[in-house]
Amino acid sequence: MTVISHLVAMAKNRVIGINNDLPWSLPEDLKHFKKYTLDKPIVMGRKTFESIGRPLPQRLNIVISQSVPEIKGAHVFTNIDEAIQFASNYNKNMNFKDEVIVIGGAQIFNETIMQMEKLVLTKVDCEIDGDVYYPRINLNDFSKRNIAYHSKNEENQFDFSIDIYEKN
Ligand SMILES: NC(=O)c1ccc[n+]([C@@H]2O[C@H](COP(=O)([O-])OP(=O)(O)OC[C@H]3O[C@@H](n4cnc5c(N)ncnc54)[C@H](OP(=O)(O)O)[C@@H]3O)[C@@H](O)[C@H]2O)c1
Repeated sequence: MTVISHLVAMAKNRVIGINNDLPWSLPEDLKHFKKYTLDKPIVMGRKTFESIGRPLPQRLNIVISQSVPEIKGAHVFTNIDEAIQFASNYNKNMNFKDEVIVIGGAQIFNETIMQMEKLVLTKVDCEIDGDVYYPRINLNDFSKRNIAYHSKNEENQFDFSIDIYEKN
């Protein structure tokens, strides 16, 4: 069975981005992002790809777009289901655990929320201005485990914790 995960960092007011960028500077969370995604397929919307600005190394980069037909270093799909199928086939061919990681943005999170069975959530301890939000979801059917807590410091603007929610 393919597990569709969401990997997201969200403020207390559910903000995840502003002006096609992240609203904070949290290099420690980016390390967690890298560690979690390395060697796995990552699925993202075209705007998130443009916000990152390049394919992420050592990961299968999959971009969803109807306006950009191809991107060097990434696989482009016009349809989310086809993108997820492609990622799942890759996992099977590589003998990997079949986890497809959706990394955003808001539009792609919204469109895959019903399929999401694992949420890797960085809760950023702030209320912040933004223009994109993670959808409201009911996590009653999920079990939660905390994997990290980081205090703010010179480089990391806010306290944050990282929890993994898995569907029961
Ligand atoms: N905090 C976090 O964890 C996190 C993670 C990721 C992103 N972000 C932030 O989120 C923001 C970007 O999110 P967003 O919602 O604006 O954009 P997005 O979801 O990254 O990308 C939206 C684009 O994806 C394509 N798309 C979406 N659904 C599609 C479908 N069903 N079929 C075909 N193409 C589809 C379209 O591309 P075309 O217009 O090319 O057709 C659409 O314009 C940025 O601020 C970014 O920094 C935050």
